[in-house]
Amino acid sequence: MKGNKYGTHRVISPVGLLPQAAEIVDNNPAIYDNEILIEVIALQPTATAFGRIAKEANGNIEKIEKEIMNIVEKQGKFQDPVTKSGGMLIGTVKEIGKDLSNTVDIKVGDKIATLVSLSLTPLKIYEIEKIDVDTEQVFCKADAILFESGIWTKIPDDLEWQLSLALMDVCGAPSMVSTHAKAGDIVVVEGAGKAGLLCLAEAKRRVGVTGKVVCIEYSEKQCELIKELGIADVVLNANGQEPVEAYNKYMEVMDGQLADFTVNTVSVPDTELSSIMVTKDSGMVYFFSMSTNFAKASLGAEGIKKYTPMLIGNGYYPGHAEITFDIVRSFPKLREYLTNRYCK
Ligand SMILES: NC(=O)c1ccc[n+]([C@@H]2O[C@H](COP(=O)([O-])OP(=O)(O)OC[C@H]3O[C@@H](n4cnc5c(N)ncnc54)[C@H](OP(=O)(O)O)[C@@H]3O)[C@@H](O)[C@H]2O)c1
Repeated sequence: MKGNKYGTHRVISPVGLLPQAAEIVDNNPAIYDNEILIEVIALQPTATAFGRIAKEANGNIEKIEKEIMNIVEKQGKFQDPVTKSGGMLIGTVKEIGKDLSNTVDIKVGDKIATLVSLSLTPLKIYEIEKIDVDTEQVFCKADAILFESGIWTKIPDDLEWQLSLALMDVCGAPSMVSTHAKAGDIVVVEGAGKAGLLCLAEAKRRVGVTGKVVCIEYSEKQCELIKELGIADVVLNANGQEPVEAYNKYMEVMDGQLADFTVNTVSVPDTELSSIMVTKDSGMVYFFSMSTNFAKASLGAEGIKKYTPMLIGNGYYPGHAEITFDIVRSFPKLREYLTNRYCK
């Protein structure tokens, strides 16, 4: 039997919505003819989703595990009910529906990372084997389903799979830098976690010697790391939640030159205005952070008389996985850091 290309045949409630917006989806692992079944190795929830759950559980692993199991049992997918955020997964192809077997370039047994959010992916967890609170990866026995419109990437042989899993969650961010940042630009990256590091590296190679890459980051330790990695021209230790102070620090070191392109990858709320204030009216702010609030960004910009265009972070851009793998291959120091951080 053939299912809907976008997976609406698996929506249990509310009927009529697409799987991402639905509350409950059918996670029966018996696939339709145009679906792919994946045997999951590990989940990589987004920093926002995992952070919310871990905070509420006070970092207690058993409580985190219980909450993840509850969410998936209730919804048939992993979508944090509070932040609505999901994540990515890695696994091996278990079965390919007969309508897709000649059209997809993967075969049973291939190791892949899904590039559509867990927030729409039917998922049935049988057992959680391990949770790594540091890398925020959840190792489990589970089945997941990809719809016909779903996207994935084969895990490259030259990169560790844990690294690929970690990076695929955020590959939409650096891909936007690759299309918007150009030679001579001032690019600001606010928040230098996983997504931010990739954006900084991509910005560095796009702006060239005539441009400048500025990092605004709260954590002193992370600021030191950015300097060691050499992926920013200016590293500002500032709190994005205090926009005026962050703006003043920025103006001082940048001699009043505002940014052409700003990427916000901060994992906490209330940083919209610090990104908007440091960006030219003729520039653009790319809000990749899931903590971004539409009303705060739009009304906040209006309130300070800024008409800077703002872009909502889309997890997908054609070639985003390849762009991200290429960044990691091109920056050996960054690769070494990320490998040590995510591959244990
Ligand atoms: N749009 C999409 O499609 C999409 C897809 C995946 C993920 N995301 C979102 O992207 C965001 C970044 O993800 P990630 O994995 O890179 O997160 P991450 O590794 O936790 O990085 C977030 C960074 O922001 C810094 N930060 C925290 N508070 C700050 C503040 N007040 N001012 C300045 N910097 C601050 C953090 O510093 P500390 O080290 O001090 O915490 C950290 O370095 C998350 O919101 C995630 O949900 C979006």
